Amino acid sequence: MKSKLELENKYKRDFPILKEKINGKELVYLDNAATTQKPEAVLDAVYNYNKTMNANPHRGAHSLSVRATEAYQEARDNVRDFINAEHSKEIIFTRNTTESLNLIAYSLGETLNEGDEVVVSVIEHHSNIVPWQQLAKRKNIKLKFLYPDENYKIPMTELEEKITDKTKIFSISQMSNVTGVINPIKEMAEYAHKMGALVVVDGAQGAPHIKTDVRDLNADFYAFSGHKMLAPMGIGVLYGKKVLLEQIPPFLTGGGMIEYVDEQSASYAPLPEKFEAGTPNAEGAVALSAAVDYLRDIGLDYIEEKEKELTAYALEKMNELDFFEIAGPTDLEDRGGIISFNIKGVHPHDLASIVDTEGIALRSGYHCAQPLMKYFDISATGRISFYFYNTKKDIDKFISAVHKTREVFGYGS
Ligand SMILES: Cc1ncc(COP(=O)(O)O)c(C=O)c1O
Repeated sequence: MKSKLELENKYKRDFPILKEKINGKELVYLDNAATTQKPEAVLDAVYNYNKTMNANPHRGAHSLSVRATEAYQEARDNVRDFINAEHSKEIIFTRNTTESLNLIAYSLGETLNEGDEVVVSVIEHHSNIVPWQQLAKRKNIKLKFLYPDENYKIPMTELEEKITDKTKIFSISQMSNVTGVINPIKEMAEYAHKMGALVVVDGAQGAPHIKTDVRDLNADFYAFSGHKMLAPMGIGVLYGKKVLLEQIPPFLTGGGMIEYVDEQSASYAPLPEKFEAGTPNAEGAVALSAAVDYLRDIGLDYIEEKEKELTAYALEKMNELDFFEIAGPTDLEDRGGIISFNIKGVHPHDLASIVDTEGIALRSGYHCAQPLMKYFDISATGRISFYFYNTKKDIDKFISAVHKTREVFGYGS
């Protein structure tokens, strides 16, 4: 049994990039909500795929193509297991959460009629707002918003008020990429279902950090990105209940997703190919599968606990300093390891540039969530976000770099 410190050191060692020097300093990577780093096991999976099995899956009878097809299918099975979906054909590979949400907004949206309503919340990432706006325009339906309370949480009364028998789709994020709030998806889904709506979950900040069981949540659709959970960019997932995916029309069309084509029409391949037009990102899927193995090995319980510990530590340090304003809950309840903040007298962009000289990577801006920022009347924030390979030392370095930044602006530490 390894000690906590041994585990911490091992996880840091598994990620070659964490040994990089940035501006002559050890990298402190606190931008995990934007994208995570890749362990050696994932880098090896990409290399091995290309070295030993690269071919176009599904397209050829030759042995290498069979190898690629099998690896691609195994990746699908592994992702199914990771989120506890019932069938592998419920796992559709996409490019990222954004594409998954566009797919569902388009394909499920095609079944809506004028007068129907879609409900989202104002805390969503643009990827879970703009596709629904497009649908609203295309189908002349109404897009309604839920709003959080002063603790940044969406009360159930909002759902009770806004979700009605006109609501056909309710789309909600599992965790906010700005405030770190974790929504009670299971409870929300239960209410939406009771009202007859289908539930879409933006799991971009969920699946990487929270043990996710789509059947337990009873999500009808669940979207997430590989690159936010150790895999490369360009591979994402849309989970959908088989019975629903079978009923809705395809999104992208062309090669790979058809059964028969004649001059004027085509019939579609069964799931999952129906939603995977064109050559898939097989190496990305294989790498995502390696990431899933790695995460499973660590255990989501460990990840959740570690991120809670880091968040508690960071909030404690930040709360001790009166110049921090935190845009999110300051307690640990129903929140994950994403902390957005402002520092009196220092613009977040200046902060991000100055702490970069100390090797610290953090985010500044509106985090693709302008409606949320507008709602809380904030123009920009800094944001630190953790993954299990971060340490308390990373947080100490961040706090010390914040003091240095304030000194640059003429404030005492
Ligand atoms: C909550 C949330 N939804 C959606 C996205 C979009 O993810 P991607 O850019 O991988 O499509 C992000 C990315 O930060 C996110 O945090």
